[in-house]
Formats: sequence, C-alpha cells, structure tokens
Amino acid sequence: MKPISIKDGKHFIEDIALSELADKFGTPIIVYSKRQILENISRFKNAFSIFNEHEAHYAIKANYNPEILRILRENGIGADAANPNEARLALQIGFDKKMITVSPNNLTKEELNFLVGEKFIVNFDDEIQFSLVDEKIDLFSIRVNPGIGKGEFKGITTGGKNSKFGTSPEKAKLAYEKAKNMGVERFGIHMHTGSNVIDSEFFKKSSLAFFKIASMISKDVGIKFEYLDIGGGYGVPYQPNVEELNIDMVAQNIRSNFMLPEIYEYLGTSKIITEPGRYLVANSAAILSRVTNVKRTDRNFIGTNISFNTVLRHALYGAKHHFEIMDKVNGKYRKFIITGQACENTDRLGQNVPLIEPKINDILITYTAGAYIMSMASNYNLLRRPAEILVDGSNTKIIRRADDLTDILQPFTI
Ligand code: LLP
Repeated sequence: MKPISIKDGKHFIEDIALSELADKFGTPIIVYSKRQILENISRFKNAFSIFNEHEAHYAIKANYNPEILRILRENGIGADAANPNEARLALQIGFDKKMITVSPNNLTKEELNFLVGEKFIVNFDDEIQFSLVDEKIDLFSIRVNPGIGKGEFKGITTGGKNSKFGTSPEKAKLAYEKAKNMGVERFGIHMHTGSNVIDSEFFKKSSLAFFKIASMISKDVGIKFEYLDIGGGYGVPYQPNVEELNIDMVAQNIRSNFMLPEIYEYLGTSKIITEPGRYLVANSAAILSRVTNVKRTDRNFIGTNISFNTVLRHALYGAKHHFEIMDKVNGKYRKFIITGQACENTDRLGQNVPLIEPKINDILITYTAGAYIMSMASNYNLLRRPAEILVDGSNTKIIRRADDLTDILQPFTI
C-alpha cells in the first residue's frame, strides 16, 4: 500500500529499505515519499485542468511542515490558511498572496482586522465575523452552508445541519448586498462540506447546490464572483482493499454542473478554487515505531513507542489506519489492539488489527500518516513528537527533528 512497496520480502519507501531508515534515524519517525506527493499533485491538477481557470489551495492544517509546503508551492499549488498563523507561515514559505485564501472561523476582531489589513483574501465564516471588520475590504467572500454535507465521520462533516461553519444562502445574500453598498467591487464565495469523501457522486451534489446558491446571489445582488471556492474533502483510502477516489470523475461532475446554462450564465467567468488537504499528502507518509510489548489479558495487545498523542485519529473519530509489521510479509495473522505509551485507556491507534507475529523490537508501520497526524500531535504526558524524514529516491532529509524535553518545556519557567 502507498507509499510502501515490498521487494524480496522487505518493505521499501522509494529506493530505501525501511529497516535502513529505522536503523539510521531511530524510532519513532514519520517517513515521507516526495515522489508520492509529486504524483498526487499532478493527478489532482490534471483532473481539474478541464476548467479554464482552476487553482488548488492546499489546506495547510493537513500538514504544515515547511518542507512539505515548499514542495507544494514549487509545484504550482496555492495555500488555504485557517487563521493568521497559518497565513503568516504561507507567506514565509513564499506563497504568492494572490494564491492564499484564509478560511477562518470564530476569529477575534483583531485577528480579522489583521488579515484584512494585510490584504489577505478572507472567506468569512459568516456575516457576524464580517461585521467585526473595520479595515477596508478589497474582496469579499463568505462561506455558505449549502444544506448538505458528507465526511467519513460525523466529526469531520461540516455541511448540513448541526454545523458550526458557514451561513445560510439568505444571510449570505444580505451580506453581499451590504458589502456591495459599502463599495466592495470584488467577490468570491466559499463552501467546505466535509472531509475524506471517496464517493465522487457527492461532489456532484454539493457543487450543484453551491453553484445554484452562487448563481442566485450573483443574479439578485447584481455581482460577479471572481472565484468559486468549493473547498476540500477529496478522500483517500486508509485500507488496502478500498478503491481510490476517481478524481477525474469528481472534476468532470463539478464541471458538468458549472456548464449548465442557468449556472454558466452567472458564474461562467469565475475561476474555480479547490482546497485539497488530505488528498495531496496523506498517502505520502508512514510511521515507523518500535513494538515495545506484546501482551495477552482478556484481549491481545501490542504496545509501541508511538501514542495517541501522534495518531489521534482513531481515538477521536474511530478512524482505521492500516498497519503492518516491517519485513514480515508471510505468516499467520492474529488480531491486536495497538496501544502506545500514554496514560489513558483511550490511547489506542487501532482495534482488531491483523498483524503477522509481532515481537518486541519489531517495527510497526502505520500507513497513511501524511495528513492530520503531525499537525494534530501533542506532547501529552511530556511525550515527544517524532522526527520527520523526507525520502527522495535514495536520498533522505530530516525535515523535522524529534522534540526533546527542552523543546517541550521551553515556554515554562522552571
Ligand atoms: N478547507 C477547509 C475550509 C477545511 O476546513 C478543510 C478541512 C479543508 C479545506 C481540507 O479538507 P481535506 O481536503 O483535507 O479533507 N482532522 C480530520 C480532518 C479535519 C478536516 C478539517 N477541515 C482528520 O483527521 O480526518
């Protein structure tokens, strides 16, 4: 499974055996394949090239490692920031401000004024956030909730009912009227309805709902949208037997809605912005950790030197990552609960995970670790966050060293 291949019974990432990386850099580490990131970028860009104008703005929250951001920027990707800090980092990495959108929520008046004052393009979460701004707005955009949403889990579904994000089409319309009356002449519009969607049909439904709202506002308020930002959500498989999202089909489905005469009449001159996060990076990385315990109580457990501090997704959403024991490709599988070093019984990385004869000191591989792993990691229990290694062919580069205790205690006075 991506980004790992098996040669002569050994696990490899690009041209390097994982065992070599574990020996050289120790464990736990997260290893990234640059080749995989580049392949994801070109597959995504290629799919959306059927639009006259399309920009992919990478959702920085998925993984803000500066080296990863640089690879994305160098390959023509823009950035979507969730707050002033992510926006500042995007600038520091060298993203063109015109290729940065900021899609924040619940910011303070000061934070909003900072973004607008610095001329960032802001997708306001709602009309209330908009009303807090005193700085002059060059381009006004708001996030609409199109009334439908889909995500792999409830916790990552952001459209439809019970969402803290966005505003209704009616309230959005009033906000555009207000902005127009204030003299704003440039407009965009935004949605993001959920994450890790692998059903291409959903994008057809959500884009149609969104384009209808945008056309209605364009017509009723008498404005043209420079961009239609349809958000992220493009899913990836977390298990080997799950089919990949057909991204070409996603783009075609969206385009067929865009070309409908009643939509094209109002939106035909707008550029499409997408905000892929997971799609570009998730499958580029795997975690190598050490098996530190194999134990039978009323259940089969293995312990490892990585914890839910780093792989939070299972405890938080019930997400199921794929795991293997390094360099064991044949043998009898038994099911294990995978646990870490944190002092909580919810410190589980996976439940009922089939593994081949795990033994103390073996290396456990956690797949699909490039998105929402390091960016959501914490130092609970003073546990260290792992180092990150970028692999490019047979070259390696440390793109983040592991925390040490001094890093973790740095903000304190002891
Ligand atoms: N745009 C906005 C406004 C977003 O809020 C998000 C993700 C994205 C784009 C990118 O979504 P993606 O293409 O990566 O699905 N921590 C969760 C995922 C939360 C996603 C939050 N927003 C997880 O581990 O699955």
